[in-house]
Amino acid sequence: MNKNIFISQIIPKNAKKLLKDNGFSVVENDSYHPLSREEFAGRSETADGVISLLSDKIDAMVIERMKNCKVIANYAAGYNNIDVLFAKERGIVVTNTPDVLTEATADLTLCIILSLARRLPEAERFLRERKFSGWQSDLFLGLELSEATVGIVGAGRIGEAVAKRLSAFGCRLLYFSRKQNVSMEKNFQAIQVALEELMARSDVVTIHMPLNAETRNLLNAGLLHRMKPTAYLVNTSRGEVLDENALIEHLREKKIGGAGFDVFTNEPNLDTRLFELPNTILLPHIGSATTAARERMAALAAENVIAVLSGKAPITPV
Ligand code: DGY
Repeated sequence: MNKNIFISQIIPKNAKKLLKDNGFSVVENDSYHPLSREEFAGRSETADGVISLLSDKIDAMVIERMKNCKVIANYAAGYNNIDVLFAKERGIVVTNTPDVLTEATADLTLCIILSLARRLPEAERFLRERKFSGWQSDLFLGLELSEATVGIVGAGRIGEAVAKRLSAFGCRLLYFSRKQNVSMEKNFQAIQVALEELMARSDVVTIHMPLNAETRNLLNAGLLHRMKPTAYLVNTSRGEVLDENALIEHLREKKIGGAGFDVFTNEPNLDTRLFELPNTILLPHIGSATTAARERMAALAAENVIAVLSGKAPITPV
């Protein structure tokens, strides 16, 4: 009998094709929204493999009900939505989709940094509001990246891809990471510093940390307090790595220059104070949202399922 795969939400069609071409039966939840934990548990109860999304909360209760499951392939680089330890205890392999979205996420990070530095949202709004009355010597003066110090929090694949792009703009680069990244130092002249120093010296701070017990609330109120009054903070990783409440207060009190959020603590139910903030870019978690990256993510998730259910090693286990 064919093995059954459950895909928890709509993802690019190439995943299903790959699975079917390899002899698997596929059941999809035809929706862009996550199922409740109860529904998810019911739908995945008899599946041999599951492709999940970052908005699916796969905790012990859900995993316990997966009777046949051998692999949960998360369609994301992050996997903080899954109780990985419990899955392992139950003999379930968990995989993610790193690498294939690195360039897309780094591109979006640069979009946000440039937009904040050159005040694009404000300037565009100004024009649409018919306020442009002619060239002015001090209209929307911004920060020149070639003169900026950028602090990169996290020196993994995405942090390094951001460093590569920023180095082409001539930025001075600082980075914070538990491990030294020799390639970032050698190729992009990035300097490893303590987080306190990075926060105090940077004109732009950009976060590229996975969310786990160690990084939750890493950028707390005390660290945010160290930022320059003109500095920008950009987060394209996970909302919970910073104290969102403290950041909102900092922005309200104009203690920093601005911020760019692609991720939030409580997605998709955002803290409504965010909508009122000046100098803030708010995006709906679109870091990896290019057609190519999303297709590669779908293919990699399916390939991980195929590998595990064919008795081979997973390609990208977590
Ligand atoms: C991830 O993969 O973890 C991103 O947040 C979404 O692509």
